[in-house]
Amino acid sequence: MSFQGHPVETRPAGAREHLFNGRTVEGYRHSLTAGIDRVAARIARTERPFSGTTPDRLAPEISAVDLEQPLHDPAAALAELEDVYLRDAVYFHHPRYLAHLNCPVVIPALLGEAILSAVNSSLDTWDQSAGGTLIERRLIDWTAERIGLGPAADGVFTSGGSQSNLHALLLAREEARARAAAGSDTSPTRAELLPKLRILASAAGHFSVQKSAKLLGLGPDAVIPVATDQDRRMRPAVLARELDRCRREGLTVMAVVATAGTTDFGSIDPLPQIADLCAAAGAWLHVDAAYGCGLLASRTRRHLLDGIERADSVTVDYHKSFFQPVSSSALLVRDAAVLRHATYHADYLNPARMAEQKIPNQVDKSLQTTRRFDALKLWLTLRIMGADAIGELFDEVVDRAAQAWELLTEDPRFEVVTRSQLSTVVFRYLPEAGPARELADDANLFAREALAASGAAVVAGTKVDDRHYLKFTLLNPETTLADIAHVLDLLAGHAEDYLSRKAAPELCRQAG
Ligand SMILES: Cc1ncc(COP(=O)(O)O)c(C=O)c1O
Repeated sequence: MSFQGHPVETRPAGAREHLFNGRTVEGYRHSLTAGIDRVAARIARTERPFSGTTPDRLAPEISAVDLEQPLHDPAAALAELEDVYLRDAVYFHHPRYLAHLNCPVVIPALLGEAILSAVNSSLDTWDQSAGGTLIERRLIDWTAERIGLGPAADGVFTSGGSQSNLHALLLAREEARARAAAGSDTSPTRAELLPKLRILASAAGHFSVQKSAKLLGLGPDAVIPVATDQDRRMRPAVLARELDRCRREGLTVMAVVATAGTTDFGSIDPLPQIADLCAAAGAWLHVDAAYGCGLLASRTRRHLLDGIERADSVTVDYHKSFFQPVSSSALLVRDAAVLRHATYHADYLNPARMAEQKIPNQVDKSLQTTRRFDALKLWLTLRIMGADAIGELFDEVVDRAAQAWELLTEDPRFEVVTRSQLSTVVFRYLPEAGPARELADDANLFAREALAASGAAVVAGTKVDDRHYLKFTLLNPETTLADIAHVLDLLAGHAEDYLSRKAAPELCRQAG
């Protein structure tokens, strides 16, 4: 066949047969179906959340793959993937994966994931995304409305809670600089101001606040931890004291970071009181609701977030409590105008005239340039399931955590810390009073590792008052109380095993 004298290829050849286009859609269908079938088969037969492998065992298998020798065959590559990835992956969908803030994902979001990577829109400019930009904007508006941020609110999707927190604190820092410049005849230089900036954050807050402070050029003492009460919620009286101290010492509080759902304890800081204090002090209030944002969809627990509507900025992680695949997060702000602090115009991408022509883009608001269309996953989730269904799933895990907490309070083998407002449970195996008690830390560390090595369940660990504790983060509505009871028996068994094997000789020595 020829066109105006030029031969027209009818079949792709070589490397080009791998390019996704109108001629290769059959290969795309075939290849993705094979991949989906393999994952489906693996998920259907996964009986444990983890194989229990170790880096020492797995690393040689991955090193042995010769990346200079392609297999030229998707089926062979998928078969190989079984050994280097699928066999030993950690499966968050499994009801006995109880460790970190990783949720099982909903199928509508997986559908979105497949579509967004195939179309591959980039959410920086309209001319790279068109409808994607508008869909993301609708979801930002939807989330801002659920929070109650008011008509001037805006925001942008990000890669995760850490990036959302960084972005919020960048905006807060720039607002603090602008206020400092407006409030004095000789505006302080950046070098003068940065060492004086402080962030007040719950002592139980997330470490991304500290990382952000470093990235933002603040001093090593910039983040002041505010003590929490016995329920691990920020104490407003301490916050008031710290705000006052900073004022007296000539320091500028550029932001107060309240947490709606602390990573370890699921505690929600008293947002109304904190908002009052921030209003009185003129401090920016950021609410890190990376975890607690699931309550925005709950029909029964939304009130736990009361006060969040008074924030200047909010972090939400749909990939924690909206059952979305990684990554899916957003930063919301009360006043769209503050997003200008991350706006730069480039002739090659988003010249200022585009803003004048009202051509919508998201890159003017984002720290990223090329950016995934993660919003599509949430869009399909809301269009197929609806927000209430997401809220019901989240409510279920919050209920389950309360039941698990009760189970633990009645179990003399364990000691349990505060009752979570969300879905974590922090506890530890407590050996009987006496010399064995001294070995509690090691017994708990051992129990956690032994459990993971068996693959029967995966739990997390943390420290409370410098002692080692275990943690359940419940995000899977399929996890039953029977699963939890079983895992507790396994943990107690491992801890007792440790004590009897390791401790007995030591106890004898101590006794002798
Ligand atoms: C309260 C809180 N904020 C922020 C983050 C960071 O989120 P990401 O892991 O998505 O960066 C986490 C992660 O666990 C978190 O628990």
